[in-house]
Amino acid sequence: MTEINKEIAARIEKITSDRRAISSHYDLPPEFFMNFLGPRMAYSCAYFTDENNDLISAENDKLRLKTNKLRLENGDRILDLGCGWGSFLFFAAEKYDCEAIGITLSNEQAMFVNEKAKLLGIQNRVHADVEHVYDLDYETESFDKILTVGAIEHIEDLNLTFSNANRLLKESGLFLVHGMTRPWATRSLELDGLRTEVDDLVEMHFGVGHWKSLWEVVQALELSSFEVLDHENITHHYQLTVRRWLDNLQENEDIISDKIVPDEKYREFIAFMAAYIVSFEMSNTICNQLLCQKHMKDTLRQQGPLTREHMIL
Ligand SMILES: C[S@@+](CC[C@H](N)C(=O)[O-])C[C@H]1O[C@@H](n2cnc3c(N)ncnc32)[C@H](O)[C@@H]1O
Repeated sequence: MTEINKEIAARIEKITSDRRAISSHYDLPPEFFMNFLGPRMAYSCAYFTDENNDLISAENDKLRLKTNKLRLENGDRILDLGCGWGSFLFFAAEKYDCEAIGITLSNEQAMFVNEKAKLLGIQNRVHADVEHVYDLDYETESFDKILTVGAIEHIEDLNLTFSNANRLLKESGLFLVHGMTRPWATRSLELDGLRTEVDDLVEMHFGVGHWKSLWEVVQALELSSFEVLDHENITHHYQLTVRRWLDNLQENEDIISDKIVPDEKYREFIAFMAAYIVSFEMSNTICNQLLCQKHMKDTLRQQGPLTREHMIL
């Protein structure tokens, strides 16, 4: 086999194994996730303007925050890398009349998004494809905004992922990266082959985990020709979110366990949420939102907002 063929074979093998891993976590009945994530089925950190807010309003605030940061405008064409069950796609289409395309590695999620879009009569504006972020076949410079929320933790090659995003974005396009990282103290131990049991549990449960440190994420963004405009640490918001997911799982045990998923799967999710909470308490997990812009040019800089006031809820 030539070197190039070997590289292609390794890439195909990687994509296949990622698909298998993601499927084992996400290809469960959507009603299972609905019973703890809530009606929007957003599987990522919510945003609490008040610690006592319920999950539904914190999810809505998270969606508003993201649209503010991305400066979403009516008719924008957006791409969501790792779209889950489409919470952002539907929000952007409803509120901003966007054409919203999502990619996921889960067949169940793509089917859910496409069926829901049909039911709502917006299948011409909302769509999900089963694609790997390494392998995106959309037209170059065809999106106004791109985001990725809760997916970088699953992705090994961020350089390739972010370069793909850069290629697909229009010249002034904004890119929002929302995801978890490890503090360098933990990550450097990990790179030396030392890991905690909590990390093992969290990553095992997710099927595939590639948590980096924040500087590795920023390095990959810069290597892919993005300029970082803004960073917000939202770790405390994730602690509040996971606590509510765990409460919902426990409250809905009778509905879920052995009815929607086997008891064993239900207990795995309980253990996972608890491990997550411990990981936050050990300061081992950080959650970030990074806003970036493609090829920042001085003329674009002058058109942008002077302050971050527009982001604030
Ligand atoms: C934790 S969920 C977040 C879903 C959604 N962004 C949200 O906030 O609800 C992670 C998503 O990333 C997707 N994903 C993970 N690895 C991926 C990859 N290599 N290529 C495409 N999608 C991927 C999963 O299929 C899933 O939809």
